[in-house]
Parts: sequence; C-alpha cells; structure tokens
Amino acid sequence: MKTTAVFFGSTTGNTETIAKQIAVKLNADIYNVADNPIDKIADYQNLILGTSTWGVGDLQDDWDNFLPKLAKTDLTGKTIALFGLGDGASYSDSFVDGIGTIYQSILYNGCKITGFVDTDGYGYEASKAEMNGKFIGLPLDEDNESILTNERVDKWVEQLKAEFN
Ligand SMILES: Cc1cc2nc3c(=O)[nH]c(=O)nc-3n(C[C@H](O)[C@H](O)[C@H](O)COP(=O)(O)O)c2cc1C
Repeated sequence: MKTTAVFFGSTTGNTETIAKQIAVKLNADIYNVADNPIDKIADYQNLILGTSTWGVGDLQDDWDNFLPKLAKTDLTGKTIALFGLGDGASYSDSFVDGIGTIYQSILYNGCKITGFVDTDGYGYEASKAEMNGKFIGLPLDEDNESILTNERVDKWVEQLKAEFN
C-alpha cells in the first residue's frame, strides 16, 4: 500500500503539473480536490497539499469547498507538507498566500507540518506563507522563475523523503 498522497487544486494547470511530478517522484497517489476526495484522507500517513493563489491572496477555487471539510477532519499522527504556485512579481504582496491559508486551517488538527523552505532566492515582497523567516511549504513561481522550478521540486522531494514517516 502506498503511504503518501498528493491533493491539489489548480485552475490553469500549473499546480496540477507540479502535483503530478511530485507524485511520480514519491510514488504517491494523486487526487484533485475538485473531485471531493475527503474520504481518501484517512488512507494515508503522509499528505502533500498543493494550491495556487488567485484574486489577491485567495485560495484556488476548488479548495473553497474542500478546505472546510479538511479543517473538520482529525489528522492525528499524519505528516503534511504544503506547496503553492504563485506570481511574486504581479502579486508581490500576496505571494502564494494560499499555502498560508491551508496551513492555518489544519494547524490544530493533530498533524505535523513539515517541508519548510528558505526564503532565499525568491522574488516577492510579502507572503502569508512566510513565518519566522521561512516558507511553511514550497513556493513555486511558474510566471517568473520557472527556470528554478525543477531544481526546487527535486530538492524539496529529497527533503520530504527524510522528513516523512
Ligand atoms: C487574476 C489572477 C490573480 C492572481 N493572484 C495571485 C496572488 O494573489 N498571489 C500569487 O502568488 N499569485 C497569484 N496569481 C498567479 C497564479 O497563482 C499563478 O499563475 C499560478 O501558477 C496558477 O496556477 P494554477 O494554474 O494551478 O491555478 C494570480 C493570477 C491571476 C491570473
């Protein structure tokens, strides 16, 4: 049985593409939150949650239905890592805020949140995904820094292999 699953929401496909890459690298199952896979959460020890950010700092649309359900789910014993797609140039004051929104919603549900990343090298001004000088998940910027995406994903996947159970 696989122990890890990726859950993503994506509007134009960027987060979906990355979710698929991460799932392949970790031999993980993958679910689109648009399909409401809430009953699948219980099946996995390790969860990777991915969202893009829309509006000004808003969660990706499909997460609007799914996140309230996840927030009511007991996540005791699970290890969770977050990633998010954003645009640090056009939306520099709300860069990958969606990561921060998911983090706040599951913080007290008994899970361990892992996969924090250095803010060095990212172009942005402010982010709800930043806490104590670190990102609380992996930000990716396909609009401005796509050349760095593969390297960032590979490094993060190696980090998760060490941090996941
Ligand atoms: C209208 C609009 C609003 C956006 N708002 C934000 C934002 O507030 N913060 C951010 O980091 N990125 C923002 N973005 C950038 C998207 O999150 C980014 O293009 C992302 O790669 C889209 O991923 P998806 O195709 O998986 O939905 C916005 C993009 C558009 C077109």
